Amino acid sequence: MSSIPQPIKNPEIKYTQIFINNEYVNSASGKVFPTINPSTGKKICDVQEGDKADVDKAVAAAKEAFKFGSEWRRMDASRRGKILFKLADLMERDLVYLASLDTLDNGKPYKSALGDIMFSIHVIRYYAGWADKVHGKTIPVDGNYFCYTRHEPVGVCGQIIPWNYPLLMFSWKIAPALALGNVVVVKPAEQTPLSAIYAASLCKEAGFPPGVVNVVPGYGPTAGAAISGHPDVNKVAFTGSTEIGQLIMQASGASNLKRITLELGGKSPNVIFADADIDIAVEQAHEAVMTNMGQCCVAGSRTFVQEDIYDEFVKKSVERAKKRTVGDPWDLSSEQGPQVDEEQFNKILNYIKIGQEEGAKLECGGQRKGDEGYFIEPTVFSCVTDSMKIAKEEIFGPVQQLIKFKDINEVIERANDTFYGLGAAIFTNDINKAMMFTQAVKAGTVWVNCYNAVNVQSPFGGFKMSGIGRELGEYGLQQYSEVKNVVIKIPQKNS
Ligand code: NAI
Ligand code: MG
Repeated sequence: MSSIPQPIKNPEIKYTQIFINNEYVNSASGKVFPTINPSTGKKICDVQEGDKADVDKAVAAAKEAFKFGSEWRRMDASRRGKILFKLADLMERDLVYLASLDTLDNGKPYKSALGDIMFSIHVIRYYAGWADKVHGKTIPVDGNYFCYTRHEPVGVCGQIIPWNYPLLMFSWKIAPALALGNVVVVKPAEQTPLSAIYAASLCKEAGFPPGVVNVVPGYGPTAGAAISGHPDVNKVAFTGSTEIGQLIMQASGASNLKRITLELGGKSPNVIFADADIDIAVEQAHEAVMTNMGQCCVAGSRTFVQEDIYDEFVKKSVERAKKRTVGDPWDLSSEQGPQVDEEQFNKILNYIKIGQEEGAKLECGGQRKGDEGYFIEPTVFSCVTDSMKIAKEEIFGPVQQLIKFKDINEVIERANDTFYGLGAAIFTNDINKAMMFTQAVKAGTVWVNCYNAVNVQSPFGGFKMSGIGRELGEYGLQQYSEVKNVVIKIPQKNS
């Protein structure tokens, strides 16, 4: 954008309730929970705390809206698309407000929050366009039959989302589901519920019938588990930790064999060859891991650097990390805000301690920044080896691991030596190395001479324990429909 609209630093919190059947309601238990401003550690407001009883109500409302013959089921597919386009227009109208809510609740720099909301709008428009373009086939089966397939919505979709991209994850989840005629019960993360709760009002304003979109804020083991174990939820889509992904898969299987999509953790390799443009590679590798305070599932958190340029790369990476501006997320010059909460903040500082104990060299950072909120200095480790915990586990913070390698065959093996498989990248000017790597690496997305180029039109998701299924693009539609095979006997003349 040419000029950045000023943030609303003290956005009015308009809604804090559970959204069911196009109405805001209190929790059945009467309980509330606080949402915290991570820049200060202080409470922003209380939010109604959804639990099993509220999830039951939301699921019942969704099920009713999905009933055969309901307004939503009878609606033209093109009309569903129009409502989604309207939702995108309303989000655009409230762009600054939504971005300000995410900055307040999550701590991300306002400029990044604006980027998130713009991407959210793009995702909703993209799927709005698909609404009347998903269709089945006619199939020349044996015998005298007319055979065709219908792509029908799955039904009630439970969507459990994380805190790192609050409104963006909301949009990735609801857009393909609604485009294809499903109904949704969304549980935002307990750390960042505000933008999803507000967006629910926009869904109503856009024209979704009651019960089509429901939003139940609450905690994971209560509200989240009630969704994944609910016998009337037909599909669950989750983004978050691998550990909880496994729990969700178990609960989904045990309750009713829900369809599942999981977008989980990663420890993505970013491989820099000596023939790459070093300044571009340093900058891209820095952003690959530092972006969004390192709270990114696809973070390039294992930076493999070829031995010939290793020392120079370490020096330049440290210079870059020291220049990173950390501070007030409302300040347009801030590149980095606080971590989302105290738990994540402590987890990251603990990994930094472990890295030092394991013998990695702390080149810069490593400390809390300031004495208020959850800010951490951009941190760079050199002399990292594959067996160290900081090279194996997801840190989810602004901590870069620089690892030395010799040649292409060795680095492919080491890049794949992980139970994750979300992203991977290679920086080289040698087409042969690039082609070999893109083919051999086990990851859902591979970038060549770039990082974090995530597009609405192309699929995103993981190999191995980084997940199941894909989001975005045409592939993102697959898990939101059931294929129905219809076979009709045609009477034969003279038979
Ligand atoms: P989490 O996986 O616990 O939380 C993600 C979502 O799952 C939240 O909405 C949470 O309420 C819900 N949840 C938690 N327990 C649940 C359960 N038993 N049943 C159903 N839903 C449940 O992640 P958390 O604790 O916030 O962060 C832990 C680590 O997970 C992070 O440090 C990071 O390594 C990873 N993570 C990865 C994300 C990604 O984008 N893939 C996003 C957030 C966290
Ligand atoms: Mg958790």
